[in-house]
Amino acid sequence: MISTTSTYRQDILSSTGHFGPYGGTYVPEVLLPGLQDIAAAYDHLKTDPDFLDEFHTALREFDGRPTPLTPLPRLSAEIGGAQIFLKNEGLNHTGAHKINHCIGQAILAKRLGKTRIIAETGAGQHGYATAAVCARFGLDCTVYMGRIDYERQRPNVYWMELLGAKVVPVEDGSQTLNDAVIAAFKDWVEHPESYYLLGSAVGPHPYPAMNTFFQKIVGEETRQQCLDQIGRTPDYVMACVGGGSNAMGMFFEFLDDEQVQLIGVEAGGRGTQPGEHAAKVRQGVKGIFEGYHSYFLQDGDGNIASTHSVSAGLDYCGISPILAHLADEGRVQFATASDETALAAVQRLALAEGIIPALESAHAFAHAFELAANLTPDQVIVVNASGRGEKDLFITMRHFQPESLRKVGELLLKG
Ligand SMILES: Cc1ncc(COP(=O)(O)O)c(C=O)c1O
Repeated sequence: MISTTSTYRQDILSSTGHFGPYGGTYVPEVLLPGLQDIAAAYDHLKTDPDFLDEFHTALREFDGRPTPLTPLPRLSAEIGGAQIFLKNEGLNHTGAHKINHCIGQAILAKRLGKTRIIAETGAGQHGYATAAVCARFGLDCTVYMGRIDYERQRPNVYWMELLGAKVVPVEDGSQTLNDAVIAAFKDWVEHPESYYLLGSAVGPHPYPAMNTFFQKIVGEETRQQCLDQIGRTPDYVMACVGGGSNAMGMFFEFLDDEQVQLIGVEAGGRGTQPGEHAAKVRQGVKGIFEGYHSYFLQDGDGNIASTHSVSAGLDYCGISPILAHLADEGRVQFATASDETALAAVQRLALAEGIIPALESAHAFAHAFELAANLTPDQVIVVNASGRGEKDLFITMRHFQPESLRKVGELLLKG
């Protein structure tokens, strides 16, 4: 349980899966022994020097860490307010922050003697990273992906398959991330000897705390880079929020720095009506789903509501129980950015700074640009660029250059 008497960081690290009223382990009985094994292994390995050495070596040698903290001088000048910096998680191997927790969990799975990995994916980044670490560590890999995401994130499906993973399109429900999670859980119930490599700071204990632990390298590097590059901590730190892994990774190291304001940006989609967005903190209701207690988007009868976001990675009905608690505590503030403003942020960052962010990350940039205009040049905003934008080729091309997309389609059909 997170209390306010000790530090947030200590409480998350020592937690047994309860964060205020949120978290827990609400799963079918058949999964309990597997989860207990993972929780016990995590509890032991998080302070085991051999494990930590293997994890950090892989982060350096396979993933390419550390990632840079990049100032955005042209954009900051154009906006005319605060200085904006970007933490470039898009430069990780496979293109996003997801590989940090995939490496950690793959090493843990190996230590548990597991040979088969199951995963779910939305944007495909978690699936792509899972497929890469499975190839690297010699593990069999099956990835579930909602049919809509399977179609709109085709490049990542191709990369996963090239890396030897079996990618299974899920035809049920809204055919997005939520349905992929349910399909992965079903597989795990049928094959409890497999390891479920869950892709965000969500799910039953120990996944929320464990993925935060494997992702906290992002904020640790950022905090030190800020001290080295600007001589102090930033005023604002921002990250987009789907389930919450890149946000928790970025925020963790700053949680006990009271002077640093932390802002999570959710998908505002195309409106505020149910089914038009994925804003859990703003419009969600407390409930239990997919093994944990948190805020979920629900209809009047308590069923999970459909969600929408132009970015597959934010198109999810729930939020990390840790973030739900930090939101209630007021330690993390929440905002939304719409599909339109996220797309505009991709273009603005590309033109002014030569960096194309993932559509997910662009939500955080859209909000940062709005906030920066109301601040002063002595203030600093750091934005987590959780991924790079190449995977969004077919979505952004349809928006910015529909004619080019049509031509690509014609060329492909000609063969
Ligand atoms: C680049 C990128 N950023 C953010 C997310 C959202 O996930 P999370 O909230 O767990 O960081 C995803 C999910 O696929 C992603 O691919």
